Amino acid sequence: MKTLNIGIIGGGLMGKEAASAFGRWFALNDFPVNVALKAVCDLNEQVLAWYKNIPTVELLTTDYKELLGRADIDVVYVALPHNLHKEFYLEVLEAGKDLLAEKPFGIGLEAALAIRDKAEELGRFVRCSSEMPFLPGPQRVIEEVKSGRIGEIIEVKAGFLHSSDIDPTKPINWKRQVKFCGEIGVMGDLGMHVLHVPLRLGWKPELVYANLQKIVTERPDGKGGMAVCDTWNNATLNTQVTIDGKQIPMLLEMKRIAPGETNTWYIEIFGTKGGVKYSTKDTKTLWTFKFEGEQFWQRTDLGFKGVPFPTITGGIFEPGFADCFMQMLAGYVAEREGFLNNRFGCVTPDEAVDSHYVFAAALKSFANTSVEKVDYQYQPA
Ligand SMILES: NC(=O)c1ccc[n+]([C@@H]2O[C@H](COP(=O)([O-])OP(=O)(O)OC[C@H]3O[C@@H](n4cnc5c(N)ncnc54)[C@H](O)[C@@H]3O)[C@@H](O)[C@H]2O)c1
Repeated sequence: MKTLNIGIIGGGLMGKEAASAFGRWFALNDFPVNVALKAVCDLNEQVLAWYKNIPTVELLTTDYKELLGRADIDVVYVALPHNLHKEFYLEVLEAGKDLLAEKPFGIGLEAALAIRDKAEELGRFVRCSSEMPFLPGPQRVIEEVKSGRIGEIIEVKAGFLHSSDIDPTKPINWKRQVKFCGEIGVMGDLGMHVLHVPLRLGWKPELVYANLQKIVTERPDGKGGMAVCDTWNNATLNTQVTIDGKQIPMLLEMKRIAPGETNTWYIEIFGTKGGVKYSTKDTKTLWTFKFEGEQFWQRTDLGFKGVPFPTITGGIFEPGFADCFMQMLAGYVAEREGFLNNRFGCVTPDEAVDSHYVFAAALKSFANTSVEKVDYQYQPA
């Protein structure tokens, strides 16, 4: 069986999540390609030490050039702060490797365009991370929309809500500072997750009216003082999309202070004949709506069945974050190797760039208290 050799640059929260998914690759049933995590780069030696337990890892380094210099590595997963995306992604591509990028795919629009264009120029296979839609629930939502059972679509709502900023005593880190996380703040953190399914269904926001909120503006600096916290905590985007020739409102919510939420991804789509909604808050539940004289909500208890890439996990067992992350990695490998077929795939570079166009318009909208057209042709100077 073919084995893809993987390198990871940035071994923190997401680097470890990826490593653990690669480490139980055998859970995928009849998956025709194997993976082996060969090398990890991180500046922090303590982070690197965690990877010593992984038998396939041959190189632990603080110098990413050493990792990129290895001829045997096919694909590099980069999970670094946003200010480093452009520089590292471009170097990965120039080193002749394929790339699994992390969102937001560059700190802003200019960076996202540069990465997309370089990947095209060099013919590298590049996809961007967004794992939630690989759960069975979102897959069923997509199926419901495509079935036409919903009738004429009249409203879409999607969001990603958590509360990792709710505690004001939590010390500052790179995710709460514009210079590392980006001017787009929470939109860069959560926006790609929210837009993945709408964009895949062809629903590109045309107009945006944005509300952006900075709620916690300083935090402990970890050294006894306070530090400025200048990123947007919450973003509420009222957008308009054209679906089947009609202009439809689409609400997009991205919140780092959403009381009561830990990591809630949701989507709701309503039409003239029916509706469908799914939230990771209730991971197993798919809600479908129909109107037949009376109005009915039907609750379907989902299990593991319906993930794009079947695993050994029993069909009645419930899936979680680690599962959808692994499904996403399987989607990356399947698409790279040409056997994705009609299954759901990872965010493409064009979709990532489109999300940045929406975020750039949202920044403008909030600054000017205006409704902004999203200009998908705009090229920053
Ligand atoms: N897909 C998701 O659900 C999800 C969730 C969280 C974060 N993310 C994304 O993943 C990326 C990383 O986020 P994270 O939460 O893993 O961050 P993190 O801070 O936990 O990890 C980043 C790691 O990068 C290392 N690092 C920093 N500069 C480096 C350099 N120059 N060379 C090598 N290593 C360096 C740090 O030491 C750290 O271990 C971001 O793009 C973030 O938006 C995605």
